Amino acid sequence: MNPTSHPVTEAPLRFWHRDAVVERHHVRPDRTLLDLLREDLRMTATKEGCAAGDCGACTVVVAETVGGALRYRAVNSCIKPAHAIDGMALWTAADLAQPDGTLHPVQQAMLACHGSQCGFCTPGFVMSLFALYQRTVAQGQAVDTHTAHQALSGNLCRCTGYRPIVQAACSLQANAAQAVDEQRIVAALHQLDADKLDAGKKNANKKNDGDYLRPTTLPALLQARAQHPQAQLIAGATDAGLWLTQGLRRMPKIIDVSRVAALRRVEHYPQHMAIGAAVNLQDAFEALAVDRPVIAPFGERFAGWPVRQSGTLGGNVANGSPIGDSMPLLIALGAQVVLMAWRPVHGKRRIVHRHVPLDSFYTGYRQSLLASDEVLGWIVVPRPRPGEWLGVYKVSKRMEDDISAVCLAVQLQVHEGRITTARIGAGGVAATPARAVQTEAALVGQLWSPDSLQRAQVAIAQEFSPLSDLRASAHYRRQLLGQLLHRAWLESTGHSGVRLEEMA
Ligand SMILES: Cc1cc2nc3c(=O)[nH]c(=O)nc-3n(C[C@H](O)[C@H](O)[C@H](O)COP(=O)(O)OP(=O)(O)OC[C@H]3O[C@@H](n4cnc5c(N)ncnc54)[C@H](O)[C@@H]3O)c2cc1C
Ligand code: FES
Ligand code: FES
Repeated sequence: MNPTSHPVTEAPLRFWHRDAVVERHHVRPDRTLLDLLREDLRMTATKEGCAAGDCGACTVVVAETVGGALRYRAVNSCIKPAHAIDGMALWTAADLAQPDGTLHPVQQAMLACHGSQCGFCTPGFVMSLFALYQRTVAQGQAVDTHTAHQALSGNLCRCTGYRPIVQAACSLQANAAQAVDEQRIVAALHQLDADKLDAGKKNANKKNDGDYLRPTTLPALLQARAQHPQAQLIAGATDAGLWLTQGLRRMPKIIDVSRVAALRRVEHYPQHMAIGAAVNLQDAFEALAVDRPVIAPFGERFAGWPVRQSGTLGGNVANGSPIGDSMPLLIALGAQVVLMAWRPVHGKRRIVHRHVPLDSFYTGYRQSLLASDEVLGWIVVPRPRPGEWLGVYKVSKRMEDDISAVCLAVQLQVHEGRITTARIGAGGVAATPARAVQTEAALVGQLWSPDSLQRAQVAIAQEFSPLSDLRASAHYRRQLLGQLLHRAWLESTGHSGVRLEEMA
């Protein structure tokens, strides 16, 4: 395919790298960051393994200013559109050692612990460790094993082992510190933002607004959506990036919602919390876990750290995969989505919105009520009522960085031993994330006893017709539904830390 036959974006792509601004013109909106680095800029320290966000070989670190400070993220450059890092700072594995060759503490720790492995996975591991270093050791915090596992959860090695790398992570604080000149970078990023604003004002009357739009305000986003209903909307691109690299799709025009400040907020109200669609998965799960601590370990089962740092809650919900993990949970919690558009009202265009219960949002396999001019703005989650019990389970072949075979979330209110309300969300068992209404009906009003559990198990096995695929057979999935309900019964009736495999 002739690359010149594709439209090229008008606005230059600019980011901060090694103490200078890198500026590239005519970068296609759907060019990945990895291709930009390796092919255009010949920065080949970053490797390509899977090109699917799975292995972490392509991990780089980006930082943006949040509240005047730098916020660092390890990202999979293979599925990230290059323009998504416009206005940010970037580090690759070639940028850590000092000019005189002194190794960065991350590199020293890898050497000392014999963590350095092959040339494909090591640059990615090192970058995940660098992001970890900036988030912890540079802030005066030590790294424990759990934090190390989380930070490395998006990096795969196919051959040797993880133990020396985890050891390196846990010993980062032992080496002489190396600081990033944050003040200088923050000032440089502010300047990039100011330049962008100026360029935007100068071009305000031009018809062509570019092919990679990254609005920062809600009205600008909704206006862009109204003007370009055919454009590909993206947030973290952890799903959409794969359509480029695995599906070989082209995206001649992209609207990126990830910089819309209003959609990156979590708001707390007495009866509910509202999570902006562009809040990343890590922050969204952390916010949800404040009211419901059981969500914290479930959130850690979602992909790996880099995907959770880039991917958004809104992207997961809007994508509508039947094996998406947040939706069964949100359905069980009675969440609503807020859909927003820029439409004429009494002759004047303005923001309009509608609330849709998540359990009626999906209309078919990866289809939803979202209209072509609409954007998912918020996910509204009711706060727990007194006496709520919640269980949420994900079953996948691997603990880290894997997609669910089945996901089940059960929310119950039990009063004097009798179930007064039940809401159950299920994933991996139908064409869409689903609510188990028949199973709920079998439970409500019943004593929460082995008999009612058994009836619920029969009901849930009949309610869904799962498919067989590479992740699990239909039979296994149906059996899991019953087993997970069993687990919910055990846990909600006081058996903690249940391991079903140890039971007769
Ligand atoms: C290695 C890997 C592991 C993964 N593991 C998991 C997992 O464990 N569980 C899981 O559920 N998913 C998983 N995913 C899938 C993906 O990370 C999630 O679905 C993620 O939440 C998508 O969010 P995003 O911001 O990246 O969406 P994007 O990829 O940017 O967009 C996805 C879709 O949502 C639409 N969209 C995004 N934001 C909006 C909005 N505000 N309004 C309207 N439409 C919007 C886009 O148009 C697109 O159609 C994994 C992906 C990878 C690469
Ligand atoms: S190359 Fe495997 S995650 Fe990017
Ligand atoms: S993939 Fe690099 S050593 Fe295993």
